[in-house]
Amino acid sequence: MMLIGRSTGKTTRKNVRLSPEQWPEETWSEDIELMRRAGVNLVSVGIFSWALLEPTPGRFEFGWLDRVLDLLHDGGIQVDLATATASPPPWLARAHPETLPRRADGTILWPGGRQAYCPSSPVFRERSLELVRAVAGRYADHPAVVMWHVSNELGCHNVHCYCDVSAEAFRGWLRERYGDLDGLNDAWGTAFWSQRYGDWAEINPPRTVTAIANPTQQLDFLRFSSDEQRAQLRAERELLKTMVRQPVTTNFMVGMDIKHMDYHSWAPDVDLVSNDHYLTAADPQAQLGLALAADHTRGVAGGDPWLLMEHSTSAVNWQPRNVAKLPGQLRRNSLAHVARGADGVLFFQWRASRAGAEKFHSALVPHAGPDTKVFREVCQLGANLKALAEVRGSRVDADVAILFDWEAWWGVELDSHPSVDVTYTDRLAALYGALWRAGVTADIVHPSADLSGYRLVLAPTLYLVRDVDAEALHRYVQAGGTAAVTYFSGIVDENDHIRLGGYPGAFRELLGVRTEEFFPLREGEQVRLDDGSVADVWTEWLHPDGAEVLASYTDGPLPGVPALTRHRVGAGAAWYVGTRLDEPATDRLVARLVDEAGVRPAAPAPSGVEVVRRRDGERTWLFVINHTEAEVRIPAAGVELLTGARCAGELTVPAGEVAVVREDRV
Ligand code: GAL
Repeated sequence: MMLIGRSTGKTTRKNVRLSPEQWPEETWSEDIELMRRAGVNLVSVGIFSWALLEPTPGRFEFGWLDRVLDLLHDGGIQVDLATATASPPPWLARAHPETLPRRADGTILWPGGRQAYCPSSPVFRERSLELVRAVAGRYADHPAVVMWHVSNELGCHNVHCYCDVSAEAFRGWLRERYGDLDGLNDAWGTAFWSQRYGDWAEINPPRTVTAIANPTQQLDFLRFSSDEQRAQLRAERELLKTMVRQPVTTNFMVGMDIKHMDYHSWAPDVDLVSNDHYLTAADPQAQLGLALAADHTRGVAGGDPWLLMEHSTSAVNWQPRNVAKLPGQLRRNSLAHVARGADGVLFFQWRASRAGAEKFHSALVPHAGPDTKVFREVCQLGANLKALAEVRGSRVDADVAILFDWEAWWGVELDSHPSVDVTYTDRLAALYGALWRAGVTADIVHPSADLSGYRLVLAPTLYLVRDVDAEALHRYVQAGGTAAVTYFSGIVDENDHIRLGGYPGAFRELLGVRTEEFFPLREGEQVRLDDGSVADVWTEWLHPDGAEVLASYTDGPLPGVPALTRHRVGAGAAWYVGTRLDEPATDRLVARLVDEAGVRPAAPAPSGVEVVRRRDGERTWLFVINHTEAEVRIPAAGVELLTGARCAGELTVPAGEVAVVREDRV
């Protein structure tokens, strides 16, 4: 892994996940030598080392880690030291079988993989904190350690545990939330299907049931489960804060279809946001998913710079077909994260393992050794990051916000809804893709974020929304903003109760429409609009109530009914998209929105060329990432930092290349 040099520009910081415990000590010195060659300046160490650090309960063995940290320090390489609590050793489950997590059907998840612990287990909590105390006690003042890494991808494999320990913790969480059973019965709508609870002890996690499980019970369990994982982060961090002075982080998984951790709520619990991202190999446009993840991570970080804690130099091993990165892709990927606010890029893993579950996962040093395309590109990236040192600490320009809420995601994908084809990230990805193709950068933010600085706000599938957040969007438009809301938004409150009086409930007034009935489409069925657009999945019987009609259906179940509307509200306008437009229609819609809102791309660029601007006061840097197979010319004036060349008005970026211009001040 790598980090951009300090703002003094003197050192490049480059970071890897080091697993020295997998290798004989003779290899360690070669590791240091190769790291120095590649410009690596920070390594994460000890992430899954609990079983080696504490081979039997209470007996710690730090000798090997002492030597590793000393060697790294002597080599001038800094360390992001793990608390090592990510995966308990097998002895814990043997001594305390109740620490093992259980699925909804009662199946026990045994040791032999990783993260085999119940997140609510007091035994796990106590033993893990003992480990943190021991590790922090030993290394708090080690000169190599510059950052602490709590656990690893909290909740990746064990976010939902349905065991009795979890059930008891869930009851405690519910008491906190509702105070009394009346509150809970009301929120859960237990008058339906004879579900009324008369005693807290009757309540369980939503274990496997006969029919559709109570939706609010499910929703609360999802909230509880995210909070339980967060509680582990907070407990470790709190302890660390009494013992160490370095910043504390944990690696989030924003943007990887990871649905179950509400990172917007976790962000205050880390000193800097760090994130892991892996490309979806099956997606030929995977660079869009990467950009979306990066923009969302920045949103989680409140716009501050963040750290890419993990990505891969080439293929992973856990997708069905693990496509390797083509020459140049590693660099495009890494620098796209930097363009979008990462102040450093890190990789899993340093040396490709020769045994274990991830032996076919790429690394900085492949099985074939350093005389490889991967290692050469790693060295090139190290040099590039050094050249980009001055960018560190700057922020990213974005005039568009996309609202995102993990609770809305949880809510919209609960069972027994009008159509299984309505999923949360579908419209997010569609709108984001259209912006990406238009060269427009978006912040992906929580609905409670301050929207006043944005020219355009998009609300895809915001099914569950709080009153205050819906009101904030209304005020934003009233004050002159442009907003667009897509179908199945504003439908329920935070208890998953329908907002009555017609859809889209919370946004009816803002959008100036009232829908009386949903008309979801059959699988594969398409409808046409009178502006030439094609759509599928969703239609609804919508009545304009103040909004102007921009397009109506010409066929399908609702010919003549409006599908796209625009409502003037105060000094702004709110658009409603009542159907699932296909890609060309979404591109046209976004072009109109962007135009109406006065949003401009970072630079005019041909399709397939990513352009993003970072800014620090008056200083700006234009990142241009050419994903196409042709050379492109982009208007720009300044110094291109990767080559040192001046460009006066036009920048040439060869096929597959990246350029970063420190722009002349105008
Ligand atoms: C992450 C994890 C790493 C490694 C990597 C593989 O989920 O933090 O330990 O497993 O994925 O891509």
